Amino acid sequence: MEKDLQAIVAQAEASLQSIASRADWEQAKASVLGPNGALTQAAKGIADLPKEEKPAFGQALNQAKGRIEELFGNALAALDERADLESLGEKVDPTLPSTCSLNGGTHPLTDVRRRIVSIFRKIGFTVAEATEVETEWFCFDALNTPEDHPARDAQDTLFFPPDSQWSNVSRKGKEAHVLRTHTSSVQIRSLLVESPPLRIIAPGRCFRRDTVDATHSANFHQTEGLYVDRKVTVRDLKGVLDYFLKELFGNKLETRLRPSFFPFTEPSFEVDLKGPNLGKLSDRWIEIMGCGMVDPEVLRLVDLDPAEWTGFAFGLGIERVAMILHGIDDIRHFYQNDQRFLAQFSSGS
Ligand code: PHE
Repeated sequence: MEKDLQAIVAQAEASLQSIASRADWEQAKASVLGPNGALTQAAKGIADLPKEEKPAFGQALNQAKGRIEELFGNALAALDERADLESLGEKVDPTLPSTCSLNGGTHPLTDVRRRIVSIFRKIGFTVAEATEVETEWFCFDALNTPEDHPARDAQDTLFFPPDSQWSNVSRKGKEAHVLRTHTSSVQIRSLLVESPPLRIIAPGRCFRRDTVDATHSANFHQTEGLYVDRKVTVRDLKGVLDYFLKELFGNKLETRLRPSFFPFTEPSFEVDLKGPNLGKLSDRWIEIMGCGMVDPEVLRLVDLDPAEWTGFAFGLGIERVAMILHGIDDIRHFYQNDQRFLAQFSSGS
């Protein structure tokens, strides 16, 4: 008798293999569980069994019924799923590639940084890096920035507590650690490990205690440049920056140097540019970067003789370049990770 029950389960399983519709399923179910179904008929046989065999048969019957109901339940779920997919109006071929392909892309700041670096690489500059945590000596003293300079004020610079430990950031003495306010500290780190002639470009992240608005961020990016050699002049500075800015903003660009002041360069300049391809900013002078001839005092502080060595340095904001290049009017767009903003740059440029 129990063999019969197993055969009925196997038969139910086999019949479910060939069903294609809800009607097929109903019919298959009736042939096993309906009033004249195989299992219902088999159950009737219990009446003819000797009394002591009845409990075991009853148990086997319940088991078979449970298994059969499970099989029919699964088959029905599979049918419903297929019907859902078909109601989408298309046959689903799971081997086809997805139609939705959102490709990843480069962040506009990464893209601009790479462009700047590749332009300077062509004329022999190499990339230098240093840590974002710095010390007061590298960020200020070695750059000829006096103790009472406003940039050193706790209002402008983020200082670490005196007992903080930074085993990977060497100090001159016992000076405080800070988050670097500019990439100019990389000038000093580089001059201390490499003798001139030296040509470096140093992109990196900087930090200032600025209140965030459309043009300020407490956390932003700069690229430093430094060239130290014998007999470097302002002509070299102007020539290199003209080449760089034309590569970046187009050949029709005009540039001018305007006198300025930085403690670590003498003379110091702001570079302005004017050109036809600058969107809303076209055809008027706009400020782009600071630069100047390395102050002799800076060379002395890294043990170079200013009578033998001269150089120029410059620093520019990567956000500023990206904003001018792409006509972006609010610096905060760069940090909000809004796909609608980022997707505009995802092909790279
Ligand atoms: N470090 C200056 C700044 O952050 C820029 C600069 C760099 C100026 C190198 C001159 C030379 O504003």
